[in-house]
Amino acid sequence: MTDGEPDREMRVSKIESGTVIDHITSGQALNVLAILGIDGGEGDVVSVGINVPSDRLGHKDVIKVEDRELSQSELDVLSLVAPAATINIIRGYEVVDKQRVERPEHVSGVLECPNPDCITNQDEPVAARFEVLEDGLRCVYCDTIIRDGIAEQIHV
Ligand code: CTP
Ligand code: ZN
Repeated sequence: MTDGEPDREMRVSKIESGTVIDHITSGQALNVLAILGIDGGEGDVVSVGINVPSDRLGHKDVIKVEDRELSQSELDVLSLVAPAATINIIRGYEVVDKQRVERPEHVSGVLECPNPDCITNQDEPVAARFEVLEDGLRCVYCDTIIRDGIAEQIHV
């Protein structure tokens, strides 16, 4: 499937090297940017398409990050807000690797526990870690459940 390219006008140019996160659930691009820690201040070159027409999804968001690949923790959390996302690695203008994100059993890094009394929020060297449930996340240390609000728990 070509998702309307090249038949329809391409809204965001192709990149020479980096990562294209395609088929992001419409409306989730800004959350994905937050997961990647991209706020424009680091100098990363990033193109974003929001509510772009897609043959497969109707509409989708797309993010192109130049000269950067994603960590496993970033991919794990990304899968929670954009379960249909495709991660394309680009080198020399070619797609050299394409993978779907997978919903993991646990996530660590990126998110913090909303419970201020959780050990992961004390001055202890304990990193937040969550069990992935069907409809949320459970802190493995204090059992606090995150149902909606994943975006609010992104570590800044
Ligand atoms: N892309 C890009 N720069 C490149 C190559 C590809 O920005 N040098 C983007 C394309 O615009 C597309 C994504 O990377 O959004 C995947 O490219 P490709 O596999 O060629 O597109 P499709 O076949 O449409 O992908 P899929 O089958 O995953 O829908
Ligand atoms: Zn906790």
